[in-house]
Amino acid sequence: MNRIDLRHAPLALLLPFLIACAHTPPAQQSADAGANAAYVMDPHSHARPTEAVIKHLDLDITVHMDSQRIEGTASYLLQRSGATHIILDTDGLIIHEVEGNGGPLPFEMGPASLIGRPLRIALAPGTERIRVRYATGPGAKALKWLTPEQTTGGAHPFLFTQSQAILARTWIPVQDSPGIRFTYKARVQVPTPLMAVMSATNPQERAPDGVYEFTMDQPIPAYLVALAVGDLAFRPLGERCGVYAEPAVVEQAAWEFADTERMLVAAESLYGPYRWGRYDVLVLPPSFPFGGMENPMLTFATPTIIAGDRSLNALIAHELAHSWSGNLVTNATWNDFWLNEGFTVYFENRISEALYGPAYAGMLAQLGRQDLDNTIAGLERSGRNADTHLRLDLTGRDPDDGMTDIAYEKGATFLRMLEMKVGRARFDAFLRDYFDRFAFTSMTTDKFLAHLKENLLDPLQVEVDLDAWVDGPGLPPDAPTPESPLFAQVEAELERWQKGTPPAQLATSSWSTFEWLHFIRHLPRPLNKTQMAALDKSFGFTGTGNMEVLAAWLEQCIRNDYAPAYPRLEEFLTKVGRRKFLTPLYTELASTEAGRERALAIYQQARANYHAVARQTIDDVLAIKDGKPPVDF
Ligand code: BES
Ligand code: ZN
Repeated sequence: MNRIDLRHAPLALLLPFLIACAHTPPAQQSADAGANAAYVMDPHSHARPTEAVIKHLDLDITVHMDSQRIEGTASYLLQRSGATHIILDTDGLIIHEVEGNGGPLPFEMGPASLIGRPLRIALAPGTERIRVRYATGPGAKALKWLTPEQTTGGAHPFLFTQSQAILARTWIPVQDSPGIRFTYKARVQVPTPLMAVMSATNPQERAPDGVYEFTMDQPIPAYLVALAVGDLAFRPLGERCGVYAEPAVVEQAAWEFADTERMLVAAESLYGPYRWGRYDVLVLPPSFPFGGMENPMLTFATPTIIAGDRSLNALIAHELAHSWSGNLVTNATWNDFWLNEGFTVYFENRISEALYGPAYAGMLAQLGRQDLDNTIAGLERSGRNADTHLRLDLTGRDPDDGMTDIAYEKGATFLRMLEMKVGRARFDAFLRDYFDRFAFTSMTTDKFLAHLKENLLDPLQVEVDLDAWVDGPGLPPDAPTPESPLFAQVEAELERWQKGTPPAQLATSSWSTFEWLHFIRHLPRPLNKTQMAALDKSFGFTGTGNMEVLAAWLEQCIRNDYAPAYPRLEEFLTKVGRRKFLTPLYTELASTEAGRERALAIYQQARANYHAVARQTIDDVLAIKDGKPPVDF
């Protein structure tokens, strides 16, 4: 217990504390419901963990693929400090009944808001276990139900969940805050012959009766609870690693991710043992809205990283790195998101460097820096300067608004700057100790900064303007710039082309995906149709199977109104639901009247294939409400 004991404090000392308490909701009072967790106020959850908190979840659910519904029970082991109620987060759930100690418990649902509806359950004295019988609603945002036609195999339906940031509450009643951790077990009934997998111990074979059981023995926050159901096959990649995918994709996936086990070994030698047992990857259908999602023991990944040459597998390094930064030490609230993603981008790059060398890692870092510069410029242009800070204030906003490249790339740049100031050996020792010391706990920005000062900066007498880095806009002047001699060569070839060398005579034969990305991103603007056609003819961009290269090229095609690429653009936007690709393409389309019409026509076809988080973003890009364009369009 590290709860503050106030009994013997003089009133004068107590007064400011009492006044603060009177003005803050109970969850904000950092305290402890028993174990060694210190909870902080999370503006995106109704939970009051200092009063009553869940420690373990038992899910017993049936997945109805036909009616696109999950129903069953969620049972919890609670820890309470005399509280008479527990509050769970819900969003769109139908709550049938709540039971505890063998009898029904009264409950009420609070008003709906941006963060869903609180489910307030009255607890009888001594109630430690409760059970909620519930069903998901029709618009459950975490759930993406795919028809057979939307899968690669075309024969079976598919379901996947995406709980981060605050969508776990749309499929499980739960205390949905990254600062609250619990273990879980699940029993999931699915229609045969489908297979179910979760962020937990997983089957490698199909169950003939369609019943699957899962265990997650390590305490995790709700946003890491994940489920997928579909026609899945498994291939081992090594001792501890394997890949799940639709049968039509699994062989290619296994080839593409062959380095996963080596990445795991490299990660362990950087920052300590992998604490989760197995590390598997699930390749989802192309509508998965993200590149990857670090669901513990089972990363969810987009198939758009299967390039046929392993060139996009840094994404696996990224999601694997979250097994330390994020899943072991977790951002306490979404305002501290940079602690998850900035650390992970830094760590991911170190894994890439360990496996493929500094030149390779340098190109990735430089591409990241280009994204960061664009993001900062864009946010500044739209008056969102505060969103360029590492520490955010997302109170009253959708946490998704804060999930920009700032957290990722400014966060990673901050850590690179620290590494440069103290030296790599010291920085690595610091990080390794950090992951050990704070394993299975959550971290606030303040707590991290205090730890950083005390354990790294002060002992070495290193000066860093932490205020400028964490609570200031843009990039401070001591931000290191990633070096990449390979990109200098690309720039030289671009210059030769602009001076008249035909594309076919440029020295591109040794280029990897990254050099091509740098090339395409730095094409002069504007380009005329002849120039676009000449590039396309020599380099086959429109026909490329590399989705990163294709997306970068299609952006240029829209910008330069290169019509021969439009059928491919339409096909890409209809098939792929990865938001990182959709956003710039729809944004570029929306910048002209004709493009906007094209975008709306495509979106009408494509929207059903997108996950709710991607829909929300593209609705905003195209200023669409509830799936319908405003009347003047
Ligand atoms: N955890 C994120 C994905 C995420 C972020 C989901 C915020 C919901 C809200 C994941 O680890 C991630 O960062 N994915 C990136 C991968 C990339 C940086 C290598 C993506 O999806 O593009
Ligand atoms: Zn990430």
